[in-house]
Amino acid sequence: MAAPLTVVIFGASGDLTARKLVPALAGLARKNRLPEGTQVLGVARTEFTDDAFRKTLADKQRDALKDEFDADAWAKFAANVHYVAADVTKPDGMAPVAKWFADREGEGGGRRLFYLSVSPDLYPKVSAALGAAGFNQETGGFRRLIIEKPFGRDGASARELNAALHQDWREDQLYRIDHYLGKETVQNILVFRFANTIFEPLWNYQYIDHVQITVAEQVTVGRRGDYYDKSGVLRDMFQSHILQVMTLVAMESPAKYTADTLRNEKMKVLDAITVPAADQAAKQVAVGQYAGYRSEPGVPAGTTTPTFAAVKLEVENARWKNVPFYLRSGKGLKTRYSDVMIQFRCPPHMMFPLPPGETIQCNRMTLVLQPNEGIKLNFQTKVPDTDGVELQPRDLTFDYQQAYGEAPLPEAYERLLLDALHGDPALFMRSDEIERAWAIMDPIIAATEGGAAGVPEEYPTASQGPPAADALLTADGRAWQPLV
Ligand code: BG6
Repeated sequence: MAAPLTVVIFGASGDLTARKLVPALAGLARKNRLPEGTQVLGVARTEFTDDAFRKTLADKQRDALKDEFDADAWAKFAANVHYVAADVTKPDGMAPVAKWFADREGEGGGRRLFYLSVSPDLYPKVSAALGAAGFNQETGGFRRLIIEKPFGRDGASARELNAALHQDWREDQLYRIDHYLGKETVQNILVFRFANTIFEPLWNYQYIDHVQITVAEQVTVGRRGDYYDKSGVLRDMFQSHILQVMTLVAMESPAKYTADTLRNEKMKVLDAITVPAADQAAKQVAVGQYAGYRSEPGVPAGTTTPTFAAVKLEVENARWKNVPFYLRSGKGLKTRYSDVMIQFRCPPHMMFPLPPGETIQCNRMTLVLQPNEGIKLNFQTKVPDTDGVELQPRDLTFDYQQAYGEAPLPEAYERLLLDALHGDPALFMRSDEIERAWAIMDPIIAATEGGAAGVPEEYPTASQGPPAADALLTADGRAWQPLV
């Protein structure tokens, strides 16, 4: 019989547990994908009985899912959910958890996946406490540790955190989450590029003029002002999610789909991204702050933390020479929309006469990450039945829901938790990736915080973002595709 398997969530009374982790585990259970007998143990300081903990989770699930809430499936899953109150940062604080395991697993031990969903400043402490309790020892089954983002707040702190974790864990026991890698559409970037023949020959400087990656959010910071203000959009979105997406767009094809080969290729892209010198960094970034941000709860009155940024990066290798990657992300924007837009070069010569002053929209491939997930290829067509030849761009569209049914795409956390349970770290970030991503972002962040990039320009909520972002592209004779 397989050893008992437990997913242990530290910080279980927090928002992430109720909003993402437990729904993901319940979703996997409903689809019969969790290994037989998987138990979930929540750990936090607040006192709860198992039943009280289950009830708070159930209430949140019911609120979120409304009519979709499946009470029977939930009851079956919840029977395997448990809770232990413990302050694991105190000396001997892990004792109640150890007791729970001793009562459950007996002498043989078991397989355990630990999830750190605690405040980031506690990562080293909780990791060390797990080590001190011997929970990193793979007696009786695997022991793995998942770490939520943010992973450090700059290169130095990320290196420190890696060193602290490596005191007690091998690199292959560590699973650093970037939930964007768990999104189906993000993984599909690789399938689109490397499981098809016809796009890859075009995927280089000869055919591509530039790439735009957009992660636009309509929501504002809401109740997260306190965390967010210490971080800002460059740390919150660029160092992690957007650079990760960029590596998948830019990387070479690994010989095999394995965690190491994949991450080696991503790492080569990160290595090839030019780290801007201090005086250059300010020219590669534009920042903004949505109107009203300074009066959000938890946000200091005079803050200059950016809630929007646009960044230009270059990849110095043979495939991408002189093809800029323009990245942008912000909160309080017109719409929730994320995509990768590949702007192809224009035809070298235009045989069709265009009205004076007009240019055509040259080919674009858009990988829509969310919502309305899909792929669009935009090309010129002849408008029928006109006097002469008139051109208009139109889309050839692949729509995920149309192709695969109405059910929404699964939450990223389902995929990532399952992979961690199976011991597949392909969609998790390796220590070198994280450190290099910080090395790229550190000078850009310094330029915004040191004032060289100017104070963030205010933009109205529900807008396209600040004009400074447009100027970044206009300077290169290009323009952002508008958010619609
Ligand atoms: C998180 C950031 O990592 O990603 C949030 O901390 C952001 O600020 C969120 O809102 C966006 O994720 P998604 O999946 O909603 O695009």
